Amino acid sequence: MKRITLGIVILVLIWGKAVEAQATAQGLEVRIDSILAQLTLEEKISMTHAQSKFSSPGVPRLGIPEIWMSDGPHGVRAEINWDDWGYAGWTNDSITAFPALTCLAATFNPELSSQYGTALGEEARYRKKDILLGPGVNIYRTPLNGRNFEYMGEDPFLASTMVVPYIKAVQQNGVAACLKHYALNNQELWRGHINVEVSDRALHEIYLPAYKAAVQEAGVWSVMGSYNQFRGQYCSHHEILINKILKDDWAFDGVLITDWGSAHDTREAALNGLDIEMGTGTNGLTTSTENAYSYYYLAKPFRELIEKGEIEEAVLDDKVRRILRLMYRTNMSQNRPLGRMNNPEHLDVARKVAGEGIVLLKNDEAFFPINPDKKMTIAVIGENATRAMTVGGGSSELKAKKEISPLKGLQERFTQATILHSMGYASGPPAYGKVMPSILDADSLQKTAIRIASKADVVLYFGGLNKNHGQDCEGGDRKDMALPFGQDELLNKLIKANRNIGVILISGNAVEMPWLPRIKGLIQAWYLGSEAGHAIADVISGDVNPSGKLPFSFPHILVDNAAHHYGELSYPGDGTNQYYKEDILVGYRWHDTQKIKPLYAFGYGLSYTRFKLSRIKTDKSSYTAGDSVTLSCDVANTGNTNGSEVVQVYVGKPNSKVKRALKELKAFRKVEIEKGKKVSVMLTFKTDNLAFYDESISRWNLEKGDYLLYVGNASNNITKELKINIK
Ligand code: BGC
Repeated sequence: MKRITLGIVILVLIWGKAVEAQATAQGLEVRIDSILAQLTLEEKISMTHAQSKFSSPGVPRLGIPEIWMSDGPHGVRAEINWDDWGYAGWTNDSITAFPALTCLAATFNPELSSQYGTALGEEARYRKKDILLGPGVNIYRTPLNGRNFEYMGEDPFLASTMVVPYIKAVQQNGVAACLKHYALNNQELWRGHINVEVSDRALHEIYLPAYKAAVQEAGVWSVMGSYNQFRGQYCSHHEILINKILKDDWAFDGVLITDWGSAHDTREAALNGLDIEMGTGTNGLTTSTENAYSYYYLAKPFRELIEKGEIEEAVLDDKVRRILRLMYRTNMSQNRPLGRMNNPEHLDVARKVAGEGIVLLKNDEAFFPINPDKKMTIAVIGENATRAMTVGGGSSELKAKKEISPLKGLQERFTQATILHSMGYASGPPAYGKVMPSILDADSLQKTAIRIASKADVVLYFGGLNKNHGQDCEGGDRKDMALPFGQDELLNKLIKANRNIGVILISGNAVEMPWLPRIKGLIQAWYLGSEAGHAIADVISGDVNPSGKLPFSFPHILVDNAAHHYGELSYPGDGTNQYYKEDILVGYRWHDTQKIKPLYAFGYGLSYTRFKLSRIKTDKSSYTAGDSVTLSCDVANTGNTNGSEVVQVYVGKPNSKVKRALKELKAFRKVEIEKGKKVSVMLTFKTDNLAFYDESISRWNLEKGDYLLYVGNASNNITKELKINIK
């Protein structure tokens, strides 16, 4: 009886909360309407476009604040000038740099994503930002894309699962996340105009799910339209992408913002869902006598169309309503926390994410970890041992209050060792939009490095890419998949000089590794932010047992990647159009289905201990639509070190009536297990998530019949296959 009463009380409370929330929401809409009624046409128009590089105007007469935005997505960017891209030279805008989103994705740990979002949101709030321009969830389609490091890998389920907690946590601070770049901005080359042709199926199954999750599960408050076109229309004012899918189908109630300069037409911008126009080719007052922002597509030209009666004022009202809604959630909210910045807790989060995201790819003869208490000589070779990686890369560049280099991290931790350092190669300084080769002599750099390596007990090579134009950097793609700056040649010589060599690649992208069979250890370290060197030393010393997993496949060579397999029309296109010919077979879906072995597979990553999966079973063998499938399994840590493992569940549909990938990730869980211990893990997913996007009915379609579950710890290391049936 008591239980029933308690149950009823709880139900009433929940219902009460729901009613209250609805009333608050309704109350909010009433307040928004009352403000809207007081605004002049001029004032409303002013709110729909920029007043400076990173702000849009408020309505001073009514005390409605301006909206201040900042990049994103790995930390809060330094202040930019009012009218141009120069840095404003403030002295109070250095921040905590968090690891790049590829690293966050590689943790396979949604809880960490939440901690990341909280810390980043607090910094944005302290810096008085209302909108943080990030995160980005463009799918990793080609290893050449200069911006892959800012995104969450090649799998829509992984990206969806990791992006939701980030957004929720950022927004808890009264700061809107701005999800970018919607959509299909999967390369930097020709990003300003390239027209992407892709099937509805690939669009819905591969390229949109993370955006959908961000809208429907995280309730993201703003979205950024991308530069490129899709089916002949610019994505920042797109009938299908914005009006139909984002705003109608997904019921997005927030603000659609352009990318900086991605609006192209007033009528389309007005009618196809663009709410705030930013960055359109203007330098404010510096290039014209009248304020140039007034000539934005959504400024004077928009007002004139309304005044002529060619566009209804209701179209403008909808935009302003959305903008005011975002403001009530951010800078007009009564209970906004104050935020904080550069505090030790934020550095802890940065270090933890970095440590958990680093991926151990090869470890012959237990090369790693290296005992930090041993007297020995370590040769640290490579430019990336000392290069600042928060600098360069485009809009995600950061002014980090502190950035520990790998060399510094090793010096602090390996106090008993003699550490020798040599650059080995030089890439040149970062320069926006162009390559500036180094003036240093490559030959003598090589010679010194080889001399030092031959004297050492251990060689640690820090190479990979960097944030220069043409590497991991916005505004351009890589030219090929090889290591740049003569690194392959240098590595070959170093290996000859000393076989006891481990390589630490710092990059946001896959590279070719012709020297791989001849090195002992390989670590994929990403752009790790403020605590980079500490996190790398944590893993190399064994203080942290690596548990990161690759969020994208590393092909052996470029043409093994699906987009490149189909030639130039597929990537990069002919300069006007490009065709995603691989369709749904992106990343591991391609490698698996076509039986083209990758060099390193999606979901792969080693540990200093060993894990064993056993007793893998589902709760039932037969399900119907709407059911949840629960899978349980035991994971034992059979080695000598505590560690974490990621259990991964992939599902495939044999004998499907449509083309399918062999298998697709549908659930994963990271578990921490002490050495010698075993834990039980449960994973669930909805049968509805096994549906394919049926182009013949423009809806998701759940095929009946048998499905195969593949359970393992990497897409290429499956411990058990199980069959289930959907009736
Ligand atoms: C980038 C965006 C960025 C914006 C503002 C654009 O060039 O594509 O990601 O948020 O600039 O810096």
